[in-house]
Amino acid sequence: MATIQTKSAPGTARCEGPSTRDIILKDEHKAPGVITEESYRYLGDEDVDYAAYYSEEVHRLEMDKMWPETWLFACREEHIPNPKDSHVFDVGDYSALIIRQSDGSIKAFINSCKHRGMQLQENGTSDSLKVIRCPFHGWTWGTDGKLMSIPCAWDFPHVDNAEYALDEIAVDTWGGFVFVNFSSSAPPLMDYLDVLPRQFAGWPMQNRHLVLHIQKTLPANWKMAQEAFLEAYHVLATHPQGLASAGDANAQYDIWGDHISRFVHTIGTRSPHLKGEGSEAEILKALGGDDLGLSLKNGDTARSVFSEHLRSTLGEAMGVDLSGVSTSEMIDSIEYHCFPNFMIFPGISLPMVYRFRPDGDNVDQSIFDLMFLSLTPEGTTPPKAPEPVKIGIETSYTEVEGMNPRLGNIYDQDTSNLARLTKGIKASRKKGQTLGNYQEVRIRQVRQTLDKYLSA
Ligand code: FES
Ligand SMILES: [Fe+2]
Repeated sequence: MATIQTKSAPGTARCEGPSTRDIILKDEHKAPGVITEESYRYLGDEDVDYAAYYSEEVHRLEMDKMWPETWLFACREEHIPNPKDSHVFDVGDYSALIIRQSDGSIKAFINSCKHRGMQLQENGTSDSLKVIRCPFHGWTWGTDGKLMSIPCAWDFPHVDNAEYALDEIAVDTWGGFVFVNFSSSAPPLMDYLDVLPRQFAGWPMQNRHLVLHIQKTLPANWKMAQEAFLEAYHVLATHPQGLASAGDANAQYDIWGDHISRFVHTIGTRSPHLKGEGSEAEILKALGGDDLGLSLKNGDTARSVFSEHLRSTLGEAMGVDLSGVSTSEMIDSIEYHCFPNFMIFPGISLPMVYRFRPDGDNVDQSIFDLMFLSLTPEGTTPPKAPEPVKIGIETSYTEVEGMNPRLGNIYDQDTSNLARLTKGIKASRKKGQTLGNYQEVRIRQVRQTLDKYLSA
């Protein structure tokens, strides 16, 4: 494919052809300004070391210095809609017991009994509690964390009830997402989220709810697995079926501060890798337009027809009015990342949330939470969050009930790279990965931010 090879400053070169911004600005249903704003900066071009993906020492450092110092997406508010509802979020050995209080607020406690350390509720589970009762000897706390009773209290004259309240950790919410921070000196969540609340001002994520949650084991370190979703550069070789109906080399990448980044890649356009002009009719066909009974009339584009189709079908399915939603918000792949491991898509037809965590102490495996959100019709109460569907490395996403088969296939293609990547970096004589200045800048940002935490 043709690219502009320039001797100008590194990071300034871009793929030839219309940019994501150009394409979106041409849409008749105008996108909000945040989508077309750009925020790239060059972060250097040195190789980024492989050892961090398989080193036990780096894993331990992450556990000591990064995971407990960052705000982590723990669950959705609809996991704990009612007073006394609880949910456990864990990463490595860290475990938070999150409980809705009677006044609607949320508290989070270290998920460990103050008697002999028993886990109070199992990792990853949701429950509705009367009290918090340890299953081992029955010490019991109120859902506000205050110690209520100890069997044979006469034997524990040395236990002061106030001192034996459960240990609270920082918890806060934004956009219907519940975050926890295991640090005793956590910065305010809103400061940590940087530009995210401003970017999402027009996308109130609290008005959405979780409809499908797949939890898959991936055969790669959590960072490597996550990086497979931070760029569209791999679409050419990994997802070639997408070239006829999606932008890739012309995707837009943005980074803000240390914690936030974004890509936007357009749907309903052709990859710049494909030679020659593709007609709008061909693009619409590649989007499955024939099966959907879609056709172009005068002046229509594949983007306008496909997005209009989704406005009516998805609007009807969800019971919401999507007539005011722009083409880009309807169909494009718009993905924000918040360090260390959280990604959200504000789009309507691609409404995913991702979370990546280490799989215990196995540095070569990770847990990938893939969630889909739906808009909640005004005046209705969202249903309680569904339980995660857990699938192993070998199980296809397409086997999960409710998963869109086209998307499932794409995620399978991503998975198929990971085991080989894990092996390949260990075989390599070259000690690090060589990243594109623009298309892979989000990976570099994550690794640079991680280094800041690890060396703090
Ligand atoms: S360990 Fe919890 S009551 Fe004994
Ligand atoms: Fe992919």
